[in-house]
Amino acid sequence: MDPVALWGAGILAAVAGARLVFPDPAGGLWWPTPMPVVRRVLAALDLQPGELLVDLGAGDGRVVALAAREYGARAVGYELSPTLVWVARRRTSGLAPGVRIVRGDFYRADVSAADAITIFAAPGALRRLAPRLAGECPPAVRIATYPEPLPGWPVTGQVPAICNRTVYVQSRTRNPAARCCSPPSTLSAPLPT
Ligand SMILES: C[S@@+](CC[C@H](N)C(=O)[O-])C[C@H]1O[C@@H](n2cnc3c(N)ncnc32)[C@H](O)[C@@H]1O
Repeated sequence: MDPVALWGAGILAAVAGARLVFPDPAGGLWWPTPMPVVRRVLAALDLQPGELLVDLGAGDGRVVALAAREYGARAVGYELSPTLVWVARRRTSGLAPGVRIVRGDFYRADVSAADAITIFAAPGALRRLAPRLAGECPPAVRIATYPEPLPGWPVTGQVPAICNRTVYVQSRTRNPAARCCSPPSTLSAPLPT
């Protein structure tokens, strides 16, 4: 085969493979949140057994799995990448019946019954989601976002993430961070690598 054609075919295959894992770069690439950060975020959201957590951009399903396993929450994750949907479904299989990974666009997610929402996505996606969430979420919903807060939503708590970044907890009606933030040493502790 002509070497130029071979190179072209290789590049096309690489692009197609990348699109399977990263179908919407504008929404945020897959960058898994370290588990200690996920734990802190769920504590800051004050997630209660039986509550519904929606993860917008579920990646490998780690947030959904932890919410179900350690908090007894019903948890639904939306993810575009078929590869990550497969991984996330494997990770969450056998957990409670209310636990689901939906292969779909988070701009169309059903958030009408959400008690808590996590969104670790590109800043542009957060800006685009903000007005929709304000119109469609229950008034008492608590939302955790990274790397920026949702514009227009009061920030009620902050959780240290990696590289000196912050996860923002936001709510229009309550202070979900109160319980998690009482021992400041917990929040300022360095993250395990
Ligand atoms: C930064 S990762 C976060 C993954 C996971 N929530 C975690 O904390 O480890 C963002 C995820 O959002 C997904 N994503 C990006 N745009 C999306 C969209 N429009 N609809 C659904 N998922 C999307 C990406 O494929 C990626 O898996």
